[in-house]
Amino acid sequence: MLWPITTGINAAGHLSIDGVDLVDLAGEYGTPLYIYDEATIRARCREHRAAFAKHYPQGRIVYAGKAYLSPAILAILKEEGTWLDVCSGGELGLALRCGFPAERIAFHGNNKSPDELGQAIIAGLDAIIVDNALELERIIAIGNELGKRTPIALRLNPGVEAHTHAYRQTGVVDSKFGFPTVDDQAERAVVMAINAPSIDLRGFHAHIGAHIFELDPYRAAIRVLCRFAADMRDRHSYVAREISPGGGIAISYTPNEQDKETPLDELGWMVGQTLRECAAEHGLPEPGTWLEPGRGIVGQAGVVLYTVGAIKDIPGIRRYIAVDGGMGDNIRPALYEAEYIAVVAARPRGHAIPDAPPLDGDLVNSRIVGKYCESGDFLIREIMMPPVAPGDILAMPAAGAYHLMMASNYNMVCRPAVVFIRDGQARLVRRRETLDDLLAAEIM
Ligand code: LLP
Repeated sequence: MLWPITTGINAAGHLSIDGVDLVDLAGEYGTPLYIYDEATIRARCREHRAAFAKHYPQGRIVYAGKAYLSPAILAILKEEGTWLDVCSGGELGLALRCGFPAERIAFHGNNKSPDELGQAIIAGLDAIIVDNALELERIIAIGNELGKRTPIALRLNPGVEAHTHAYRQTGVVDSKFGFPTVDDQAERAVVMAINAPSIDLRGFHAHIGAHIFELDPYRAAIRVLCRFAADMRDRHSYVAREISPGGGIAISYTPNEQDKETPLDELGWMVGQTLRECAAEHGLPEPGTWLEPGRGIVGQAGVVLYTVGAIKDIPGIRRYIAVDGGMGDNIRPALYEAEYIAVVAARPRGHAIPDAPPLDGDLVNSRIVGKYCESGDFLIREIMMPPVAPGDILAMPAAGAYHLMMASNYNMVCRPAVVFIRDGQARLVRRRETLDDLLAAEIM
């Protein structure tokens, strides 16, 4: 779970995806270039759905669009039968313009605007995941005005800590997300919701954070949600129909994370087993549920190609290898100290590439850096690299999630082109930005 499942080395010795030569692809489309392997996306969708089908058929998979959203992936998700989680009017607008079924869209976010809520209610989404009292009041008012009854779930803050970067923690008490459960705010929201004719309260949700390898925090969150559901039944005769532990499971960004990975089947089993145990313990009906994988669906499917430019050797310290992308298309190393690996696409070695020669011998302690005017603009802080030269193409795996969606035009750099590969064919799904695109909104 590092490279796309169709990754290989072709007769020319070049890295390939689904038989497409990545060096040729860089030559055809230029770099930086983002590549998505469709077979990997589909395989991950099916594996997630199969895990629930086997262990808890009441569960569904809701792809977290914030990881990567485009017409190309929406078409795949529509075919694969997953649901979609959007977190802004923009993501919702894209999904609706691409004909994604509104009844399979859930709307998340900690500060949805009245316009976004109105857009969601008019569109008739599967559910709005409500984060705070103001939002609930707005949905009630809009529903009363439009004569619409809106399905919602309440996002609760379960007070659960998960082992991930602090900026990816969302379930601890000190968080902007969810109704606190340390006082009666969540209970008051339940009372408001069940007494509002324009609200259909479906149940409770929590999201404890992202890129989490362990299952225990999810178990803990499910237990908090079920205990709260039992309290709401006892005190207000409200029985939750759905209880969701939120997000997906971590992926590997480097080969040494691979032994930490949790099989999806185990995730599906754990969620099903914990929900059954809690329902029995509290005398609740077994609730429906959903998981919200983002990186677990697209992360591994993505590879980014860069062209090597300036190379600088600092004696006794390291080699700096500069490429034509960086923090503008991948902010994660700078923001979360995220780690990656890179290989020379024309001479791939090691790093869990199927059939690749070993990575040994003439290696140099290097830092892969971008082209931006920031010292924090690095993609790989430390890596032992084989010899490289200006013009070489570097390929970095696990680039499918939270790269392009967090990309910027810092230093007025244009954002990359994107190609999807399927059945041995590559097709452009997003052209490279131009200066005209950057200046389109400027009043010149
Ligand atoms: N559900 C909710 C409510 C979320 O907020 C998220 C991610 C997910 C699901 C999907 O989590 P995933 O399966 O992709 O880990 N920019 C960070 C990730 C922030 C996570 C945002 N929420 C990164 O680059 O790692």
